[in-house]
Amino acid sequence: MARITLEQIFIHPITQKYLGRSGVAHAVAVAEHAYSFAQRYHVDPDLATKAALLHDVGHYTWYRDGEWDYELYRENDIHAIKGASRAHKLLIRIGEDRHAAKEIAVAILLHTDSYLPEGNLKLKPLQYVVALADEADEELGGKHHYREIDDTEALERIRMLDLRIGNRSGEQNNQII
Ligand SMILES: [Fe+2]
Ligand SMILES: [Fe+2]
Repeated sequence: MARITLEQIFIHPITQKYLGRSGVAHAVAVAEHAYSFAQRYHVDPDLATKAALLHDVGHYTWYRDGEWDYELYRENDIHAIKGASRAHKLLIRIGEDRHAAKEIAVAILLHTDSYLPEGNLKLKPLQYVVALADEADEELGGKHHYREIDDTEALERIRMLDLRIGNRSGEQNNQII
């Protein structure tokens, strides 16, 4: 079975809709960080980059009087839960392997512990890599969600990751030129 590419996931209207909320630039940067961390921690870069790309698709917009309200967000946010479910549905729809879709969804579910009761989670390497990649791109005050990126640049960087992952597994990826 041909690998589902990051590009296929990235250009899907559902991904575009929800990344529009949480920030395309952040998603692309976290996917790149996840690729590097995956090498370091011997994690499958295909799963790590897919989870990283989709990790924030569960965000809701917590605006009050036109401004993002962090208190409202902290109290009510479940974006990791929603994102895991949304990403899983999308991945299955575009033909991702069921086991891979579950691994990716669980990594998204656990990329933050901000919605969980106090206490340390024992993360598996894939989950740790995705959480670490997210942290590596975080800016104070949630500014990483608002960073802009040109559409062409975003797609080029996604294609570059596909190329690196494809080469690594020795695959021929016909979609990438
Ligand atoms: Fe997040
Ligand atoms: Fe994030």
